[in-house]
Amino acid sequence: MYTHLEQRDSTRPPVSLGTLAKMKREKEKIACITCYDASFAVLCDNADTDLVLVGDSLGMVLQGHDTTVPVTMDDIVYHCKAVARGLHRPFLVADLPFASYPTADIALANSVRLMQEGGAEMVKLESGLGQLEIVEFLARHDIAVCAHLGLKPQSVHKTGGFKVQGRDESAAKRMIESAKALESAGADIVLLECIPSELGKKITEALEVPVIGIGAGPDTDGQILVLYDVLDITSGRKPRFVKNFMDGATSNVHALKRYVEAVKSKTYPAPEHEFHA
Ligand code: KIV
Repeated sequence: MYTHLEQRDSTRPPVSLGTLAKMKREKEKIACITCYDASFAVLCDNADTDLVLVGDSLGMVLQGHDTTVPVTMDDIVYHCKAVARGLHRPFLVADLPFASYPTADIALANSVRLMQEGGAEMVKLESGLGQLEIVEFLARHDIAVCAHLGLKPQSVHKTGGFKVQGRDESAAKRMIESAKALESAGADIVLLECIPSELGKKITEALEVPVIGIGAGPDTDGQILVLYDVLDITSGRKPRFVKNFMDGATSNVHALKRYVEAVKSKTYPAPEHEFHA
C-alpha cells in the first residue's frame, strides 16, 4: 500500500527526508533548485535535482517585484500545484510567504494549504529564535520544516537591504545558536543564505539535519540556486554566488544537468562565489 510511489519508477525512487539524511551522512552533495511551473519542473526532474523549492523569489523573477514581500499564499499554492504536476523524483518544498506565519495556528493552516492544495512535502519559513515555537508546533503536527537563516529577503524593509549576514563574531555566534535551537525545535533542514563560508561550514558541522546553502560557501551539505539565474534568464546585477550554467550548454536541461554535476563534484561554488567574514 505504501510502495505505490516507488513502484512508479523503481530506478528513480522519490527523494525523501530519509534520502537527504543519508546523503548528508555519506557526504554526497544535495543539488537543489527553485522552480515555479510544470514545464521547468519536468526539466529539473530530468536533470536529477534532489530537491525543488517553490520559492517566494517568484515575486521577483516571475512577477517583476523588487522584493518577495508582495507574494501571497494564493501565489505560492498556484505555482506549487503546477510544479507538483511536473515532478516525480525531487523532494518538493514550498515557501511560506511574507506574513503567512505570524502565529503557530496560522502557520499550521497555511502549511496545510501548501501540502494539501499545493502538493508540497515540506514548508520553508524565514526563521530565527522568534520562530522557535512555530517550528515546534509545525513539527508536532507532522509538518516537515525547513528553517531559513542568514539573509532573509522577507525582512529587507526592516533590515535595510540585501546584505551578507553573520560577518561579525557576535552575529555569527547568534546564528549558530539559532540554527541549533531550530534543529532542536524540529526543523528537518536548515537553509543558509548569503553568509561567510566559514560560518556555513561551522553551522553544517554543528547540525545533524542537512544544511543547504545559497551564497554560504562550499561546505554546506547541499546548494540551491534560483532557476532563472542558473539559466541566465534573470537580467540586471547578479549576486556574487550566481553562476550562469547556460554558458556552454546546448539546452536548458543540459544547463541544469551541468549545475547538478557541478554541485555533486564540488566544483560549484568556486572561490569567486564565496563571501568571507
Ligand atoms: O525564494 C527563494 O528562491 C529562496 C531561495 C533564495 C533559497 O528562498
